[in-house]
Amino acid sequence: MLITFEGIDGSGKTTQALRTFNYLKEKGIKVHLFREPGGTDPGDQIRNLLMNYDLDPITELLLFEASRSELVRRIRPLLKEGSVVILDRFTDSTLAYQGYGRGMDLDLIRTLNDLVTGGLRPDLTFLLDVDPEVALGRVRDRSRFDDPDLLRRVREGYLKIAEEEPERFVVLDSSLPEEKVFKRIVTVLETRF
Ligand code: TYD
Repeated sequence: MLITFEGIDGSGKTTQALRTFNYLKEKGIKVHLFREPGGTDPGDQIRNLLMNYDLDPITELLLFEASRSELVRRIRPLLKEGSVVILDRFTDSTLAYQGYGRGMDLDLIRTLNDLVTGGLRPDLTFLLDVDPEVALGRVRDRSRFDDPDLLRRVREGYLKIAEEEPERFVVLDSSLPEEKVFKRIVTVLETRF
């Protein structure tokens, strides 16, 4: 089972992904957690490039996909052996940020996503939805992706993507306290496991 967490910067998805990982682990379920970009050694090097250089949008898009390609290679065997894999960001991030956020061609991004994942899709995606102003108030290390106007478009993009695949997405109101959001996640997990 592949579970992904998505949302804008400061939406709290990293916290919730980690809580979910710990929760499943305590239940005795074999579970792994990775983040994007990164999650592998080459992926982490790619992450450094993405975080430290002001890159051309096309370079940026290809680097996110390159990092993902390595991660997919890493997680395929884990899924095959029956582990649950939790990802802090995956293909929907690229559609939301580079597509809806930066205005790059959505079909091109879908094609690249399919290329690097070989068609691997999440079984379940939690979208932590929150107003960018609220989210940015929570972010300590602001990155160059943390522009309120960009994040507004990213948020709207995420909501559109979720609407297109209601059976995969669970949209959570992330302006609520962390504990309440996590309870909702647990309820969903209990019905799925
Ligand atoms: P990160 O520090 O991981 O932020 P967060 O904790 O919010 O996930 O930085 C990842 C940044 O990269 C984040 O601003 C979103 C952006 N991003 C994309 O623009 N496209 C992508 O495909 C991915 C995976 C991330």
